[in-house]
Amino acid sequence: MAESAVLEGASAPADEAPIESFTVTLIIRRFDSEFDDEPRWVDYDVELFATDRILDALHKIKWEQDGSLSFRRSCAHGVCGSDAMRINGRNRLACKTLIKDLDISKPIYVEAIKGLPLEKDLIVDMEPFFASYREVQPFLQASGKPEKERIQSVAQRERFDDTTKCILCAACTSSCPVFWTDGQYFGPAAIVNAHRFIFDSRDEAAQVRLDILNDKEGVWRCRTTFNCSEACPRGIEVTKAIAEVKAAVLRGKPDVPKSDLVSA
Ligand code: SF4
Ligand code: FES
Repeated sequence: MAESAVLEGASAPADEAPIESFTVTLIIRRFDSEFDDEPRWVDYDVELFATDRILDALHKIKWEQDGSLSFRRSCAHGVCGSDAMRINGRNRLACKTLIKDLDISKPIYVEAIKGLPLEKDLIVDMEPFFASYREVQPFLQASGKPEKERIQSVAQRERFDDTTKCILCAACTSSCPVFWTDGQYFGPAAIVNAHRFIFDSRDEAAQVRLDILNDKEGVWRCRTTFNCSEACPRGIEVTKAIAEVKAAVLRGKPDVPKSDLVSA
């Protein structure tokens, strides 16, 4: 953290400060069931630039210091949702967390997301998460074979626009204290993905999903702590979506205003 260096070969214009790197300390919670009884925290010093991301730091550690460090990532650009982890105690995507946004005067703590079985280092078993997702039937269900596309008005499409943005990273579900204590709870992500179809004017299975979520492990387990909204890297209003599903369980799927309807 104390040391700094100028980027080799980088020539900043005369009136601009040179690009400097810093030594940053990452403390990573590691676990390998072959060798460890319990997870252990391991320190790594890494040379980074302010514009690097936590994912770059993990790559540098893996490629230059310890090839056994294990984590998931694919797109590296906030799209695939595979690198959610706890960074300084908050659920974040490693590929979207810039070093310059963290306090590098202190070590940066990195660990796996909570509430799902730990497999190795920063990797958890996502199957319980995807099982809940599958249970809410996250696909369009509409009868008949239309002659042309099923048309929606702009207002009808906007009704569920926010929840279409989910990338299934599990940052919300694994930040939820109810999920930590009761892994049976469907969790925010499953409810978000139910919302996406419940409020779709073309879908005909809203009541099926509402019945599924009107369960002791369904929407009523939500305690409105807002951890999920804070954690979502896509900016989805997760708690609001859960509240809308709760209201729909009580009152049924709300009708779209007549003025917003379009005829197919
Ligand atoms: S709602 Fe947000 S945090 Fe939750 S799984 Fe989807 S993208 Fe990730
Ligand atoms: S690696 Fe795909 S979202 Fe981060």
